[in-house]
Order: sequence, then structure tokens, then C-alpha cells
Amino acid sequence: MMVSAGWMALGMALQAPADTGAVLYGAWCSSCHGADGRGVSRPTVRLEVPAADLADCAISSAEPEDRWIAIVRDGGASVGLSIDMPAYGDAATPEQLRAVVRYIRALCGEPGWPPGELNLPRPFLAEKAFPENEVVVAAHGRGQELIYERRIGRRLQVEGAARTVADSSPEFGGFTAALKYNVWHSLARRALVSIGLEVTPPWGRQPLWEVEPFVAYGWNPGGGATVIQGEVLAPWEDTEGWTGGQLRLGVGQQIGRVVPMLEAGWTVPREGQQTLALFPQLWVQLSRLGHVAASAGVELPVAGPDPRRARLVAFFLWDYGDGPLHRGW
Ligand code: HEC
Repeated sequence: MMVSAGWMALGMALQAPADTGAVLYGAWCSSCHGADGRGVSRPTVRLEVPAADLADCAISSAEPEDRWIAIVRDGGASVGLSIDMPAYGDAATPEQLRAVVRYIRALCGEPGWPPGELNLPRPFLAEKAFPENEVVVAAHGRGQELIYERRIGRRLQVEGAARTVADSSPEFGGFTAALKYNVWHSLARRALVSIGLEVTPPWGRQPLWEVEPFVAYGWNPGGGATVIQGEVLAPWEDTEGWTGGQLRLGVGQQIGRVVPMLEAGWTVPREGQQTLALFPQLWVQLSRLGHVAASAGVELPVAGPDPRRARLVAFFLWDYGDGPLHRGW
């Protein structure tokens, strides 16, 4: 009796640590990803591409936990990454997969990085609250915009946008520079708030300096399929001063790789008529890795000055922080 109880206790003592993320990582992952997660540079392991640096906060915080669990379960090839990243779905239990992914996500060791769970699909109108490494090409009626976004550290993002208009005038549309800073996020509440400032100098068709402070927010209630995003902004123009306020609010529903969304844009000018427009749109994840997406929809003016014409809206985006354009398909 005594002996078997002793063996049981020993067995449990051996089993418990064997299931911790650290032990599983050491047994399964460290040969390629290195003891510290930074990858091995030794020629003992031959890989087609370098193993991802799992200790890099910018890399590990950008993805939701479930996404990395899926990669470890189904292997790199399941999302268009290298087959060198093996699939552990047959060898590991769901609990073990979660434990090892929690362990690698904690390797970064720095608090304050907004987690990838809060990186919601980009709406057309409202600014996204999550800081991104992204290139976006957008079309709004006859106008086109090329946007470049770059993250700096944990919470800051800088952005530059150049606009053109497809008509007979060769004049270029204008340029806007922006800063965005994530002031608050909570994984428990599945919400984040960022503030920012857009500055447009009087170049091209833009007649006057324009400055736009904004607050952007995102919410994914209960981590479910519904996403709510919005923005409040107050444009200021040289000579005119504050010209009024704008409110943007969108709701979307994630269904696999597509997200139908409905946004509303309401402009309350200091003088003159208010405008309200609806933007039904469909966001589609194009690459299996999820770093390339597109969206298309229409702007439907509901109230405002005539003529009220519907216009097409669309964008194509590449999250270059996630991988090169040609990979992950
Ligand atoms: C045989 C070598 C090898 C082993 C063992 C291995 N990996 Fe990988 N892993 C790779 C390579 C190579 C990549 C990069 C794939 C790419 O970029 O195409 C990668 C990528 C990843 C990624 C994706 C990172 C990103 O950028 O999204 C995760 C997550 C990951 N590995 C976790 C693990 C975990 C956890 C284990 C152990 C359970 C493990 N790997 C074991 C080679 C390996």
C-alpha cells in the first residue's frame, strides 16, 4: 500500500512538470526555436527559412493566442508557412498546446503590448485603434489613397497617406501625416482606445492646413464574433478654426474568413447642414496567413446636401509585419 501510494505521488510529481509549457517547449520546440525562443543559428538544424523569433514582443503580441495554437496544432503549412514548422496535433493534447503557446507568448516578458486578440478587421471609414504595420490602397468614388502605417514600440504608430483623384486635372490630391497612440487596452474586456492626430498641409488640392485630433476605439464583446469599432474626430482648419465634429461607428460579424460590416458616418458642421451616410461593406481575408485582406462596399448618403450619390468604397491591405506579400498563401 505504502509503496504504491509512494509511486503514485512520484508519478504525479513527474507528470505535473512534464505538462508545463516550459518543459514541453524544451522537449518539442527548442531544437529549432532555441532555448530562449530567439531561434538557433547553429548549422546543426537545417531549415528552409529561419525559425520565427518567438521572444520578439512585436511578433508574439501581434497574434491572438488561438491563432498560434492552430499553427502549432496543424503545422506551418496549414497557414502557408514553411513545412519545417511541424504539426503537433497528433502528439499533444489541447491543454498541452495551450500551455506551450502561453509559454512562448510570455517569452517577450514586457507588459503593455496590445494583444492580437484586439486587432480587429479594418473598417473603411473609422480609424483602427490597434497600431499596425500595414500598407493599404483604398478607393473612394473617384479618389484613391495610398496609406503606409508603421508601429514604433509597444503603442505608437506613425502613418503617411497620399491621395489622388482620377479626373482630367493632373493635380495631386494631398498628403496627410498621422500619429496614433494606444492609451488603454484590456484583454479581459476585449476593448482598446487610442488617440491620434492627423495633419494635412496645403499641398495639391488641399487649400489650407488641416489638423484632426481623434479618438478611436474597438470592442469585441466577450471575444465573440461581433466587432464594434468607431472614431470621434474634430477637424480644425487654418483661418476657419474648429469646423465641427464627426462620429463614426461600425458593427461587424466575423464569419470564417469574411466579415460583413455596417458603418455610419455622421458629420455635424459648426455651420450648415449635417450629413449622415451608411457604408455597408464586406471584409475578406485573402491569404491563409491572414496578412492580406480586402474590403469592398458602398457609401449610401442618407442625409445631407444634394446631390446625394452612392459611391463605391474599397481597399486592399497587406500587414507587412506578419510576412512578405508572396508568403502565407
Ligand atoms: C523542426 C524545426 C521546428 C520545430 C521543432 C518547431 N518549430 Fe516552430 N517554426 C519553425 C520554422 C522554420 C518557423 C517559421 C515558418 C515560416 O516562417 O515559414 C516556425 C514558426 C513558428 C510559429 C509561427 C510564428 C509566426 O511568425 O507566426 C510558431 C507560433 C511556432 N513556430 C511555434 C512552435 C512551437 C510552440 C513549437 C514546439 C511545440 C515549434 N514551433 C517547434 C520551425 C520549428
